[in-house]
Amino acid sequence: MKPVNIGILGLGTVGGGTVNVLNRNADEITRRAGREIRVTMASVRSLDKPRICDTSSIKLTTDSFEIINHPDIDVVVELIGGDTLALELVQKAITNGKHVVTANKALIAVHGNEVFAEAQRMGVTVAFEAAVAGGIPIIKAVREGLAGNRVQWLAGIINGTSNFILTEMRDKGRSFEDVLAEAQKLGYAEADPTFDVDGIDAAHKLTILASIAFGIPLQFDKAYIEGIRSLTTQDVTDAADLGFRLKLLGIAKHTDNGVELRVHPTLIPEKRLLANVDGVMNAILVNGDAVGPTLYYGAGAGADPTASAVVADLVDVVRALTTDPENRVPHLAFQADALNDTVILPIEEVSSAWFLRLQAQDQPNVLANVTKILGENAISIEAIVQKAPHQQGANVPIVILTHSVFEKAMNQALGKISKLPEIEPDITRIRVEYLGSD
Ligand code: HSE
Repeated sequence: MKPVNIGILGLGTVGGGTVNVLNRNADEITRRAGREIRVTMASVRSLDKPRICDTSSIKLTTDSFEIINHPDIDVVVELIGGDTLALELVQKAITNGKHVVTANKALIAVHGNEVFAEAQRMGVTVAFEAAVAGGIPIIKAVREGLAGNRVQWLAGIINGTSNFILTEMRDKGRSFEDVLAEAQKLGYAEADPTFDVDGIDAAHKLTILASIAFGIPLQFDKAYIEGIRSLTTQDVTDAADLGFRLKLLGIAKHTDNGVELRVHPTLIPEKRLLANVDGVMNAILVNGDAVGPTLYYGAGAGADPTASAVVADLVDVVRALTTDPENRVPHLAFQADALNDTVILPIEEVSSAWFLRLQAQDQPNVLANVTKILGENAISIEAIVQKAPHQQGANVPIVILTHSVFEKAMNQALGKISKLPEIEPDITRIRVEYLGSD
C-alpha cells in the first residue's frame, strides 16, 4: 500500500526523537500500521543547526506553512509548542483536510474545544497522546481502556521538571535554581520554565485528563494552580519527619457538587506508590468505580519517550484513515454532543487535609489560642508537634496536621491566626491527600 507522508513542524528534542524512533523501528511500525509511515518534510528554525536525527531523506524548510499547504502531506505532526503560531498552523492544517498529531498541551488545554469541533467538521483526527505525561499512554488508557468505568478521581505527578527539582532538593539538599538549570540543560523544562515551576504545565495536562475522564469540555481557565516556587528544604524535611513526601500533584475529582480541578504542592503518605515516583518520572493514579485504583508510571519527558507517544498516535491515525469519521474514537473520549456541563468548583469549595507550620513565641497560651481558632472554624486536628527553638529565645515552629476541611474554613482560620500577636504572620500551608481508593 502507498506510504503515508508525514510533515513534522519543529525538529527539536521531540521532533528529532520522533524521526529516530520511526527510523529505528520502521519495520515493526509498518507491520503494526499496515502502511509505511514516511517523514518527507520537516520545518526548522535554522537549516544549519546540528540535529539529533538523520535528515538526509527529509526536505527541510524554514516555512511551516509550506508543509501544511503541501498536497502530498497526509499527516502533520505539530511539535513547535506554544499556542500562537502552533494554533494557526494546526487550524490551517485541519482546514486543509490533514490529520494532526501534536504534543502541545497548552494548545489542547486552552484551544482544544474549538480545534476538535473544526476537526470533526472536516472529518480529520487530532491526536495528542504526547501532550500528557510524555511516553505514558495515559490518554489511551483513560479514553479507551477505562471506557467501562465512572472515573471518580485521578491524581498525577505530571510535570517531570518540578518532580526532578523536589527529588533533588530532598535527596541532595540542592538549591531550586541549581536543579532547574540542570532540567533545562537536559531538555525536560518548557521553553519558558515558569510553566513548569508555577504549575501551569501540569494544569494544562490535568485539564486534558479531566475532560477525557469525566466527559466535560476543556476548561483550563477554571483550574486552580499553585506551583513549587515557595517550597523550602524545610518543607521537604518536615514532610519526611511526618511520614509524607512532598509532590506537585494534579488532582481531578468528581464530587456530588462538581469537579475539583487543582494543581498544587501536596503531601502524600510515603507508603503510596505515587509518593515514590522520583526524578523526571511521571505517574498518574486513576480511580474507576469498576476497576478501582490503577497506576500508570513512566518517563514524562525527553526525546525518545515523548516520541514513543507521537509515533503511537501516528499508527492510530494511519489505522483509522479508512474508518468513517463518526466511527473513530472521539477526541475527548465521550461523543462530542454528549459532553456535560458539570461545574468546576472554585478552590474555596474544595476540601482537603492540611499541613500547617507556624512560628510562635514560646509563651503560655499560644497553642490554646491557635487551637481555639481552629475549633471555632470546625477544623479538627489530627496531630500537633511543637519543635525545639533553633536558639534560646527564638520563635518555635509548631507543625499541625488537620483532618479534611473546606478551603474556605481554613482561609478564615488562618486569617485570624496570622493576626495573633504571638504568631509570625507568614504561615506555611500545604494540602495533604491520602489517595485512598474511596
Ligand atoms: N516540561 C515538561 C515536564 C515536559 O517537565 O514534564 C513534558 O511535558
